[in-house]
Amino acid sequence: MDGVYPPAEDTFLLVDTVAGLDRCDLFVEVGCGAGLVTMAGATIARQVIATDISVLAIRNTRHNLREHGLDRHCHLVQCDLLEAFRRPICASVIVFNPPYLPDDEERSTLDHALVGGSTGPETAVRFVRRCAQHLAPGGEAYIVVSSLGGQAAVISAMKEAGLLVDVVATEHLFFEKISILRGRHVGAATETVL
Ligand SMILES: C[S@@+](CC[C@H](N)C(=O)[O-])C[C@H]1O[C@@H](n2cnc3c(N)ncnc32)[C@H](O)[C@@H]1O
Repeated sequence: MDGVYPPAEDTFLLVDTVAGLDRCDLFVEVGCGAGLVTMAGATIARQVIATDISVLAIRNTRHNLREHGLDRHCHLVQCDLLEAFRRPICASVIVFNPPYLPDDEERSTLDHALVGGSTGPETAVRFVRRCAQHLAPGGEAYIVVSSLGGQAAVISAMKEAGLLVDVVATEHLFFEKISILRGRHVGAATETVL
């Protein structure tokens, strides 16, 4: 669908990661795009919430969930990150494949999916600061990062939020390396295992 991020290597890496998780109560995807990751979450979770800032992405995800008969236990919300939720939602798993490119001042219809702020990681860092409060004890956050920038800022924010950080998947592409960081909500520990 025009204006919606077309699934790519980062999407598939996150889908594979989600598909390998244990069954859980509440799976949340922030920035659902076309909905592939949300669909993977719907196969492992009793309840699913997907948010996106783009109404086109929400419509596309709804369509794809329905097409695959996965919509019954999925709730879609158009909002910035998790801002629609005033109270903690106690998620088992929260995932985000965020926009992470720096703003180069050229405009495209996919800017909301690609540009993460003036230096790149701003949206991902903002997400990390909000997401820890929505994780259940023992809950996990999974965030896609790229060697093109911002990884250190995201790891710092995760540690500041009290998450125990490690890398659970990596893929080398032609022009960048993408990784998936896991942040475990385990209390006071803040070490990084890379
Ligand atoms: C790189 S795309 C990933 C889409 C999809 N999850 C995937 O992996 O293919 C980033 C997505 O995040 C959404 N997004 C960007 N900023 C957001 C924000 N502040 N709150 C919610 N969603 C956001 C974009 O609209 C886009 O759908």
